[in-house]
Amino acid sequence: MQRKFNIEQVHELLYQALETERGGIKIYTTALKAAVNPDLKKEWGEYLDETRTHEKVLTGVFEELGLDTETKTPGRDVVAHLGASLVKAIEMALAAGDAAGAQLVAGECVVLAETKDHQNWELIGHVAKNASGDMPKVLKKAFDAVEKDEDHHLYHTTGWTRELWIESLGFPAVLPPPEEVKDVETAIGAARAEKAREQML
Ligand SMILES: [Fe+2]
Repeated sequence: MQRKFNIEQVHELLYQALETERGGIKIYTTALKAAVNPDLKKEWGEYLDETRTHEKVLTGVFEELGLDTETKTPGRDVVAHLGASLVKAIEMALAAGDAAGAQLVAGECVVLAETKDHQNWELIGHVAKNASGDMPKVLKKAFDAVEKDEDHHLYHTTGWTRELWIESLGFPAVLPPPEEVKDVETAIGAARAEKAREQML
């Protein structure tokens, strides 16, 4: 059965997704300056490389679909604004001179950015799965190349930020976090890993 869907809104999703990845490159570049823990620094270095790849994958999608990578929309402008604000927030924390505090801010900013990034790709996957025609095939190829990275970026950084906060509060922390150790790739897996942290102390 041919399904009807809103093609303009699919394009809007792609414009926002590309802007999210571009913002992500800047956020990771800034967050790396705030990373103190060497394992976290290494992790974010890898995520920066992967985010650069995602930007390239999406640029390929735009080429295949005949879309202009520089098209501006009100929604895309908001994504750019939020990304720039997250960079500014990390810079504010760095300027304050508290290295541990700045690392926490950077972790929270990465989680905020990756929450949007993760949802973008879930939605791209939803279109790929539920729409018909040639466009979903292009999206499916991109989704398959990127989706697992996005799970790592969100769930693992959430774990890092929680454990670094717990450590800063003066309690025993699991570092690297359970999400990292258990190589979590789903929301259910992340919930299980968090539950198991007590046994990992
Ligand atoms: Fe990404």
